[in-house]
Formats: sequence, structure tokens, C-alpha cells
Amino acid sequence: MVKVIYPGTFDPVTYGHIDIIKRAVELFEEVIVTVAKNPSKTCLFTVEERVEMLRESLKGFERVKIDWFDGLVVEHARRSGAVGIIRGLRAVSDFEYEFQMALMNRKLADDITTILLMPHARYTYLNSTIVRNLAQFHGNVSEFVPPIVNEKLKEKFKTK
Ligand code: COA
Repeated sequence: MVKVIYPGTFDPVTYGHIDIIKRAVELFEEVIVTVAKNPSKTCLFTVEERVEMLRESLKGFERVKIDWFDGLVVEHARRSGAVGIIRGLRAVSDFEYEFQMALMNRKLADDITTILLMPHARYTYLNSTIVRNLAQFHGNVSEFVPPIVNEKLKEKFKTK
């Protein structure tokens, strides 16, 4: 069974991420979507909340598993029996960062290959920060995120 992992912060998951997951499922037998605990980023949602939103958003997706990790992504890939790391490439501006990360991960684990997939053009300008910002000021994000994420964002930013 060819397994891959798709790591990210997913704070929160957007339709851009889901587009990548759909493409990965077409190519590989199992896709493990894994939430980075990532102390280098201050997140709006806890790991548990991010995992929960992914679970809810990906209900009905066969061959997709969801978990979280702390530490090095290649170690988590190894533990999971994954042979590859999926990353999304939205624009040329993503390339340098992804290239650097892919080469570092290859240096750490030569047997784990990074695979870069491009989401649909309609998602190229999307990221979680933009969605959080929009939601914070009560903008409509329903076009960018699954209903559960929309609800959770509303809860987080509801006026007191
Ligand atoms: N659609 C929409 N947005 C997307 C996207 C897509 N297809 N792909 C990426 N993004 C956005 C994310 O929403 C995120 O937005 P934000 O910064 O506004 O929150 C941004 O692009 C960054 O993407 P993300 O996938 O969350 O990457 P990251 O840089 O935060 O984390 C890890 C990447 C977790 C894989 C990386 O930090 C990691 O591997 N950490 C573990 C430590 C390690 O192993 N280090 C060695 C590697 S060099």
C-alpha cells in the first residue's frame, strides 16, 4: 500500500487544502492528513480543534486518515509508513520555501520523497491567514471553507 502524508498547520483547513487532498487520493492508496503542533506559529485553533474540523470536513473521504504530530515531519512519515510528503504549490512564491523544505527533508530522510501538487487556480490566492482575517471582521468565508469551519470561525469571533 502506497501511503503518503500531507502535513500542515491547517489553522483552519480551507477548500484549497481539500483540493490538494482530493488530488492526492487519486494518486495514492492512503493519504494521512497530519496537523503540525508547530510551536513556531501562534494558532487560533488548538490541535484538537484543527483535527476535529478536518475530520468533519473530510467525512466520506475513503482512504484518508487524520492525525497530528509534533517534531520532525520525516519522523512522523516514517512512523506512519509513508513513502512521501505531499505539499501544495499555489504560486511561484511558494516554490522557494517548499524547495528548501523538500531538500532539508531529503537530507534527513532520503527515502521519503516530497511531492508537490498544484491546487485549482481558483485557490491560488487562498491561505488560512486571509480566511482568519476575513472571519475576524465578520466577512463571509463560506466560499473558502467547509461549513464546520465557517461555524467554528463564527464562534471564535462572535461579538461579546
Ligand atoms: N490552499 C490554501 N492554503 C494553503 C494551501 C492550499 N492548497 N497550501 C498551503 N496553504 C497555506 C496554509 O493555509 C498556510 O497559511 P497561513 O500561513 O496563512 O496559516 C500556509 O500556506 C503555510 O502552509 P502550511 O501547509 O500550514 O505550512 P507551514 O509552513 O505552516 O508548515 C510544516 C509546514 C508543518 C509541514 C513544517 O513546518 C514542518 O514540517 N514542521 C515540522 C518540523 C520539521 O520537520 N522541520 C524540518 C522541515 S525543513
